[in-house]
Amino acid sequence: MSKLNVVILAAGAGKRMQSTLPKVLHTLAGRPLLMHVINTARMLSPDKICVVIGHGSDQVKQSITDDDLTWVLQAQQLGTGHALMQVLPQLNTNGFTLVLYGDVPLVQIQTLQQLIAAAGEKSCALLTAIIDDPFGYGRILRNRETGEVVAIVEQKDATAEQQSIREVNTGIMLIPNQHLHQWLPKLENKNTQREYYLTDIIAMAVKDGIYVASSQAGNFWEVMGVNNKHQLAELERAHQNNYAEKLLEEGVSLLDPNRIDIRGVLSCGSDVEIDIDCIFEGVVRLGDSVRVGAHSILRNVTVGAGSIIHPFSLIEDAEIGEDGKIGPYARIRPGTRLAKKVHIGNFVEVKNSQIAAGSKANHLSYIGDSTVGENVNIGAGTITCNYDGANKYRTVIEDDVFIGSDTQLIAPVKISKGSTIGAGSTITKETPENQLTLSRSKQVSITGWKRPQKSKA
Ligand code: UD1
Ligand code: CA
Repeated sequence: MSKLNVVILAAGAGKRMQSTLPKVLHTLAGRPLLMHVINTARMLSPDKICVVIGHGSDQVKQSITDDDLTWVLQAQQLGTGHALMQVLPQLNTNGFTLVLYGDVPLVQIQTLQQLIAAAGEKSCALLTAIIDDPFGYGRILRNRETGEVVAIVEQKDATAEQQSIREVNTGIMLIPNQHLHQWLPKLENKNTQREYYLTDIIAMAVKDGIYVASSQAGNFWEVMGVNNKHQLAELERAHQNNYAEKLLEEGVSLLDPNRIDIRGVLSCGSDVEIDIDCIFEGVVRLGDSVRVGAHSILRNVTVGAGSIIHPFSLIEDAEIGEDGKIGPYARIRPGTRLAKKVHIGNFVEVKNSQIAAGSKANHLSYIGDSTVGENVNIGAGTITCNYDGANKYRTVIEDDVFIGSDTQLIAPVKISKGSTIGAGSTITKETPENQLTLSRSKQVSITGWKRPQKSKA
């Protein structure tokens, strides 16, 4: 088709959200409503994406810094037609303009492509919906004989008979630019709301002999707008259900598809199994046969094939190698890279550390800013003391080291290859290879010692 401009209307206040945040910045699946619309618009490879902002315009622009957008300020919200008038100088003289709403986040690309196809080379096209309770929407008026669209009448201007029409305007429409340039300057606000209605151009089109095509979305949630928190929650669920359906379709086992949240992109290999109440944020990749236990949270993580994430693990900005075992109750923080067959057990925190193949820290440890070799065993309660209150230092643990329980490694420090550290040690100096190093006082027993007694005063 010919050149496309997209205009996203996002100037409204959104009072019913009961929030100081501009409506289009409220998040669905972890991203602002407006970002969903922008991303869908981008898939159409338009010439230009214009976003009309008004309420909270500075905040909107600060939150969305993508440089492929043309921001247009509508200082006063005098109606959808008025919003388009502000954009007019930005629009091409030929081709089409697609109007989207910043608060209608889930419209699907296929639906928009279908609308574009319905418009052909020179018609207007409306995305309409047939709904049980059309109250509040603009109604689609059709010619009784031909069935062609002849006008849109707004709820507040509709006669009782028109109000009984169940086909409504979703607001999403496609208009040839050439005509938009002719019609918009002619809009008037002689209606109940004293607004410039974009919808009035439909009657103008019919008068000028321009055909108005229409098409419908496959799902009602695609054209549902967000006006309050109820609708936001409803659309969040719709999005999550769709995502879960897609994963099931791809062969992922979800123990309960109603109890998974994906706030970003989750890609899975074959035979992946995800237990209930897991949250995936950002970009998460799970390799073949990965299992994720209940109540785990993974944010920007890659998990290698065959790994098991046991319940209640929190993993952020990290790479987990193949055949690893993580958790239960593990916390893996940004900058962590685990090679294959690494085990990180309960109540172990790992931060900005690289751990080579086959190494284990199974209980109650903190491993921060460390480089750990292969086949290292880190005993329960081992702490890398990486911070002196001002600066952070690295701990290097070479291959085949065994660290006894309750050991403190005071960084910067190196534990050389094959070292064994006796339990309860505080290590401040580099240890020699293949030797036992320990730093605890000898065990003594004091004869005749008595426990203090409570004084009977
Ligand atoms: C509009 C349509 C109505 C349709 C309904 C679908 C018109 C006149 N009416 O009605 O036919 O059924 O949407 O939800 O177009 N906006 C601006 N600037 C403005 C006014 C609105 O940017 O001056 C934006 C809003 O932020 C919102 C969108 O346009 O994203 C729709 O505005 P809204 O006031 O909700 O339109 P409705 O009166 O509900
Ligand atoms: Ca509305």
